Amino acid sequence: MTDIKNKTAFVTGAASGIGFALAEGLLKRGAKVMLVDIDAEGLKAAQEKLGTENTASIVCDVADPDAVKAAASATIEAFGNVHLIFNNAGVSLPGRPGRIAAEDWKWIIDINVLGVAYGCESFIPHIMGHGEGGHIINTASTAGHVTGVGMAPYFASKFAVVGYSEALAQELAEANIGVSCLCPTWVKSNIHNTPDKAPVAGQYRDKFKASKAYETIKGYIENGMDADVYAELCLKAVEANRLHVFNDPEARVAVEMRGKALLSDYDANLKDLGL
Ligand SMILES: NC(=O)c1ccc[n+]([C@@H]2O[C@H](COP(=O)([O-])OP(=O)(O)OC[C@H]3O[C@@H](n4cnc5c(N)ncnc54)[C@H](O)[C@@H]3O)[C@@H](O)[C@H]2O)c1
Repeated sequence: MTDIKNKTAFVTGAASGIGFALAEGLLKRGAKVMLVDIDAEGLKAAQEKLGTENTASIVCDVADPDAVKAAASATIEAFGNVHLIFNNAGVSLPGRPGRIAAEDWKWIIDINVLGVAYGCESFIPHIMGHGEGGHIINTASTAGHVTGVGMAPYFASKFAVVGYSEALAQELAEANIGVSCLCPTWVKSNIHNTPDKAPVAGQYRDKFKASKAYETIKGYIENGMDADVYAELCLKAVEANRLHVFNDPEARVAVEMRGKALLSDYDANLKDLGL
C-alpha cells in the first residue's frame, strides 16, 4: 500500500505501546483510524491524546470472534472502505515447561494467534469486495523466529503468526492485498505487565513482579526502542510492501544462527539417507 493518505486503518492494541504509536503515525500520514482495545480506560485516554478528528474507538476483545466481527462492521459504518488492518494486540506469559496451566495456554493462543486470524477473516472479504487494495499487518515478534528460555507459549504463538503471515502474503498477493509481519525486539511498551491478566499465572503476579526474570525483561523494555521510531519503520515497510519488519542488530545474529542450525540438521538428515 504505497500511499496511506486518506486510507482507513483498523488497529488492535491501540491503547498502548506499539499500537498507539502506529495509530499516531497513521494519523500523521493522513489516514483515518479505528482504535481497538480490550482496555476501555486506556482506549479512552488514547483517543483523548490523539483527538477525535479522523479517529473512532471501540472496546473489543480480539479473542472473541463475534466481537472482532462487530468491531469490523463498526469501522466500515464509521469510515466506509477499510484498507489497513493492524492485528497488533498481544500478551506475554512466563512459565517453565511442565508448569504452564491449560487455561494460560488457551489464553495466550486465543489472543496472540486467533485474535490475528479473526482480524484477517473479518476484513479480507471486505477488502476484496471494495477492490481498492489493502494491507494486512500482523504483529509477531523476533520471538517468532528465534526462541529462548522461560516463555515457550509466547514463542509458540509468535512462530504461528510468522507462519500465518507468510502464507497470507502468498495467498493475497493476487488480490492486491499486501502483508507485513512485525517482528520487534525490545520496544518501549507495557508488554512486560501483560501476564497480570493470565487466568492462572496472573494469580501469582506479586511473586512474578518480585522475580529477577521480571526485572530483566522490564529493563530491556524500558531501555528499548521508542515505540514511535519502531512504528515509523513499520509504516515505511507497509509503503514498500515489505514482509518482515525487524529492528535489532543483535537479534539478526540469532536469526542467522537459527538458519545455520536448521541447515546443519537438514544436511545431516540427507546424509543419513545417503542423499
Ligand atoms: N514491546 C516489545 O518489545 C515487543 C516485542 C515483540 C513483540 N511485541 C508485540 O507487539 C504487540 C503490541 O504489544 P506492546 O509491546 O505494544 O505491548 P502493550 O502491552 O503496551 O500493548 C498491547 C495492547 O494490547 C491490548 N490487548 C491485550 N489483550 C487484548 C485483547 N484480548 N483484545 C484487545 N486488546 C488487547 C492491551 O490492552 C494493550 O493496550 C504484541 O503483539 C506484542 O507481543 C512487542
